[in-house]
Amino acid sequence: RKRVGILTSGGDSSGMNAAVRAITRYSIYKNCIPYAIFDGYDGLVEGGSKIREYGWENVRGFLAVGGTSIGSARCLIFREREGRLKAAYNLIKNGIDALIIIGGDGSLTGANILRTEWKGLLDELVQKGKLQESECSVLRNNLTIVGLVGSIDNDMSLTDITIGAYTSLHRICESLDSLTSTALSHQRAFVVEVMGRHCGWLALMAAIAVGADWVFLPERPPPTVESTFEDWETEMCNRLLEQRKLGSKKTLVIVCEGAIDRHLKPIKPEYIKQVIDKRCGLDTRVTTLGHVQRGGTPCAFDRILATLQGVQSVEAVLKSTPDTPAPMIGMSQNKITSVPLMKAVELTHAVGKAISEKNFKLAMELRDPDFNA
Ligand code: F6P
Repeated sequence: RKRVGILTSGGDSSGMNAAVRAITRYSIYKNCIPYAIFDGYDGLVEGGSKIREYGWENVRGFLAVGGTSIGSARCLIFREREGRLKAAYNLIKNGIDALIIIGGDGSLTGANILRTEWKGLLDELVQKGKLQESECSVLRNNLTIVGLVGSIDNDMSLTDITIGAYTSLHRICESLDSLTSTALSHQRAFVVEVMGRHCGWLALMAAIAVGADWVFLPERPPPTVESTFEDWETEMCNRLLEQRKLGSKKTLVIVCEGAIDRHLKPIKPEYIKQVIDKRCGLDTRVTTLGHVQRGGTPCAFDRILATLQGVQSVEAVLKSTPDTPAPMIGMSQNKITSVPLMKAVELTHAVGKAISEKNFKLAMELRDPDFNA
């Protein structure tokens, strides 16, 4: 019987629990033994009570709970070989031969490194007398790794969407709607920072969803290539003032936390505020949404996505062979997909997540001052 370890790693995202639930229950259904590994790679390195067999009942009520109930961490020690040696030891001691990781690109890369080093790590543990050869022999040939992408940023290539991104987007939109009503009451401008370390998906989609006046992204440093302006400050202020002249009574500027200008310098909300204050003469406030956008009840889409992908990840474990590259379960054109994990990670590092030019233009152009939208 396959023993399947489940861990969540990196920044939590809503829907991770639905994935853990689906993996646990579908593993049992498929006659595998699921193990929860608590607190991400920290738990895998620490072992002991951090690795526990999980039953059908353990995941009761998980669907509606935000974050990850089995805990997560941004584990530094697992990045070192020493940490991975301890992880390998704990996997062997628990007889775990498959790991399903729900996390971002860093977490999934870490898992793949463990798989690549697997035989060498076991050799070293045997040489050092920490393990007996007899303990390793059954699991020596393969450690199965499957990745699910849990990230509010929706920052992974080769998948249309990641677990948690839509919940976060809903949370952002609710906050922006609230800010819009107070902005209208005072005819103010608001500069709102949303999360997204290197990827502007949340900022762009929020801008479309609430009809923002301007959006700053890491992928489209302003002024944009086709712009006739020398600097983004003038370009932005002209557009904001134009909107006001057309009758708009509020101004909403969204800044992705990873936004940069065309000299690759970060664009910060406080600076944007000063520019709008001074050059547009608008009473401007800054709001940083922060971690509220990462927490809370998962939306229906994230529960469904995580459940379908969780089931698929167990199928991938059962199908895997030592020669096939570790898969990442994603979604493309509304279908659950399986793509080589490292290909997705490499593409993400090389070109990032594709931001649609059409969507960017839509966010920047489609504003209707008559409706204050
Ligand atoms: O998980 C992604 C993310 O929320 C990014 O958008 C953000 O930059 C980062 O995590 C914040 O990380 P932390 O919670 O460790 O401060």
